[in-house]
Amino acid sequence: MKFESTPYNPWHHRVAVFVAFLTFVVIVAGALVTSEDAGLSVPDWPTSYGHILRLPPWVGGIVYEHSHRMIASVTGILTIVIAFWTLFSDRRRWMKYLGFAALATIVIQGILGGVTVLNFLPPAISTAHSAVGQTFFCIAVLIAVFTGRRWVEEAPSPIADNGHPKVLVLCLYTIAILYLQLVLGGMFRHRGMSWWPHVVNAVAVALILTWTSVRALISFPRIEAIRRPAALLLFTLMIQLLLGFAAFLTRVAWVGTQANNPMVISTVAHTSVGALLLAISFVLTIQVWRHAAVTRTQEVPEGRTIPA
Ligand code: HEM
Ligand code: HEM
Repeated sequence: MKFESTPYNPWHHRVAVFVAFLTFVVIVAGALVTSEDAGLSVPDWPTSYGHILRLPPWVGGIVYEHSHRMIASVTGILTIVIAFWTLFSDRRRWMKYLGFAALATIVIQGILGGVTVLNFLPPAISTAHSAVGQTFFCIAVLIAVFTGRRWVEEAPSPIADNGHPKVLVLCLYTIAILYLQLVLGGMFRHRGMSWWPHVVNAVAVALILTWTSVRALISFPRIEAIRRPAALLLFTLMIQLLLGFAAFLTRVAWVGTQANNPMVISTVAHTSVGALLLAISFVLTIQVWRHAAVTRTQEVPEGRTIPA
């Protein structure tokens, strides 16, 4: 991946950035569907009240559920455009695969959305819909990064990471613990599990994310492509912890499960910023992978070590 490149194509990049942005809007809309308890207000799928194109009655929870479906459909159509555009215009073979991986992911996502509606929102399927949705968002953000001018035109000169564990390994821990947190949060939010595993795991999330970003900032202070997502990760983590407490107060401690404004705002914000945190971790990981040389050490007969 490191040595292959392609000419910068500004419109391909702009559409990719737009798809990533639109996916974030879909995530906020989806989180509103859950928080407003509107998941079953349109009971059929793939049709909405028997029609594909005609609007259902624009009242109550239908507004949230059908808006979510409509913006998701536009995102799906634009993903088809990106996949074929990449196939025909990008020289990097792995990018062509990534475009179609994005397409496959959004198709699975749409089907999961339908399956959860047709089965009356089973917690595991609603949580899978949430996790696959965030994964699609991360892929869309990565496609936007990979089509950017910086990525295609700059030849990186990797700097050695001599720390232990490597920052790249810490980044992978970050992604893994965030997925666990997403599943625990999703299972609680969709009434399949108690709240405490999510809140306990938040301590591990906070420690690992802080460790990763501080190590990245200390090890690569002069590489902007790493410094920016590392600082952003730390900042977004703080916001997410505050939103987590707000979600906990409004959802668990104060009012139970009735929809009300503070609860809707804090839980939608917490779910959506969770998606941002995951996407920032993916961007940091890919930039560390690009800019940090993974040096291995090798034993020599005298017992000294030399870089491989
Ligand atoms: C781009 C495609 C899509 C993305 C990224 C996406 C993402 C999301 C997200 C992030 C949530 C919130 C989960 C939560 O708050 O815990 C959600 C909820 C939901 N989505 Fe989607 N979604 C997509 C497409 C669809 C489609 C096509 C349907 C069709 C029925 C659908 C149906 C639902 C339903 C019913 C919920 C509420 C689930 C519940 O309350 O248990 N989604 N979606
Ligand atoms: C940085 C660490 C955290 C991350 C990444 C995170 C992420 C998430 C995500 C993604 C969801 C929604 C899952 C879904 O349905 O898609 C969620 C739900 C939730 N989280 Fe967190 N969370 C974190 C910390 C916390 C903390 C510290 C608390 C409480 C003190 C908390 C309380 C909650 C609650 C109450 C919900 C469910 C909201 C609802 O019922 O609507 N979270 N979290």
